[in-house]
Amino acid sequence: MNELELLRQEVEACTNCDLYKTRTRVVFGDGNPNAKLLIVGEAPGYYEDKRGLPFVGSAGKLLDKLLEEIGLNRDKVYIANVIKCRPPNNRDPNIDEVSACSPYLFAQISYISPRVIITMGNHSTRLLAETDLGMTKVHGRVFKKGDKVVLPTFHPAACLYHPEWLKLSREDLAKIPDLLSKKDL
Ligand code: URA
Repeated sequence: MNELELLRQEVEACTNCDLYKTRTRVVFGDGNPNAKLLIVGEAPGYYEDKRGLPFVGSAGKLLDKLLEEIGLNRDKVYIANVIKCRPPNNRDPNIDEVSACSPYLFAQISYISPRVIITMGNHSTRLLAETDLGMTKVHGRVFKKGDKVVLPTFHPAACLYHPEWLKLSREDLAKIPDLLSKKDL
C-alpha cells in the first residue's frame, strides 16, 4: 500500500478532535494521486459526510462544471479539505480542529506533490497561502510557495449565492491551464 493509502487508513480511524463523535464518514480526499493540481476546500457538508467523498453536494456540482470549463475533471485533479470530518450543522471549523486536522492535509500535499494548489474559501487560503487578507483582496493572486503556487478563489458554495463571485472565480480558474503548463513556476 502506498503512503497516501496508509495515511487514509490513519485518518479514517482518527479521534484527534471531537468531530469523530458526530461524523458518519471521514472525507479523506479523492481524485488522481499523481495530479499536478490540488483543490482544497473547507470541510465536508451533509452529503460528503454521508458518502465519504469531497464536494458531492450542490457546491461540488458547480465545482465539476467549473473544472469542465477549463478542460479538467475529477480524474485529472485531486480534491481534499482542510477538515476531514463534518462540523455539526456545517458550522465553521474552530482553531483546535484546524490544528488537529491540518497535518493530514500537509502530508497529502507532500505525497501528491502538486504544482498548483487552488484554495477555495478562507480556511484553506489562510492555511496554504498564509495570508489573513479577505477573499475579495486575494482571489486570483498567485502565491509562490517553494516549488508550488497557491491560487486562492471564492468557495463554490458562496458562488452559488453570489453571481458576481462566480464570475470572478471563473476568471481566477481560467489561469490554471497556463500555470500547469509552465516549466518554471
Ligand atoms: N464544501 C467544502 O469545502 N468541501 C466539501 O467537500 C464540500 C463542501
